Amino acid sequence: MEVLEAIRTRRSVKRLTDQSPSRRDIEEMLEAALWAPNHHFTEPWQFHVIAGDERAKMSEHVAAAIERESTPGDEAAAAAATKARGALLRAPVVIAVTVCVNDDPVLALEDYAAACCAIQNLTLAAWSRGIGSKWRTGAMCLYASAKEYLGVSQDDCVVGYIYLGYPGRNAVGKGRERSRDCIRWLGWNE
Ligand SMILES: Cc1cc2nc3c(=O)[nH]c(=O)nc-3n(C[C@H](O)[C@H](O)[C@H](O)COP(=O)(O)O)c2cc1C
Repeated sequence: MEVLEAIRTRRSVKRLTDQSPSRRDIEEMLEAALWAPNHHFTEPWQFHVIAGDERAKMSEHVAAAIERESTPGDEAAAAAATKARGALLRAPVVIAVTVCVNDDPVLALEDYAAACCAIQNLTLAAWSRGIGSKWRTGAMCLYASAKEYLGVSQDDCVVGYIYLGYPGRNAVGKGRERSRDCIRWLGWNE
């Protein structure tokens, strides 16, 4: 698939089937991710490929921590635990992308941005192979128990969980039309 076509047609995929992309496909996506631009070649990212039983194990680890840390009768915590328990089971493969946060705020921003570029590369590579993705964030990025399970520092940033798999029926939304109002042409005479 041509690059511009992949960019234009990629959509977040809501429902993924149980069929797993192959290891070779995943490796190809990761390779695309690694070619993302990153200032000073810091290569700030880590990619944690979570598949098979590990999805349930990590989800359970996070859900159990929420329950342990909540007070009895806390309905919000109970709902969060239920959500966490099913979280990573919504795709056959989930890639958590983390970055080590630099003490220098400028470098930290650059590293975060580079990781976002890597994720976009990864999702475009997936799409070009007919594999759908959804970048998910939310509380799972913030739970200490999730970072603990991934084996990263509590100071690291979880940039997102990339859910990967083959699109189910009617799973690919059209997406909203993009506004062009954000574009300003300065010093352009045509
Ligand atoms: C940084 C980031 C975080 C996102 N987090 C979530 C999320 O937690 N849950 C979700 O359903 N979608 C999430 N998305 C997907 C967006 O909702 C989606 O990209 C947006 O609706 C545009 O649709 P498209 O990707 O099909 O163009 C996230 C996307 C980005 C870039």
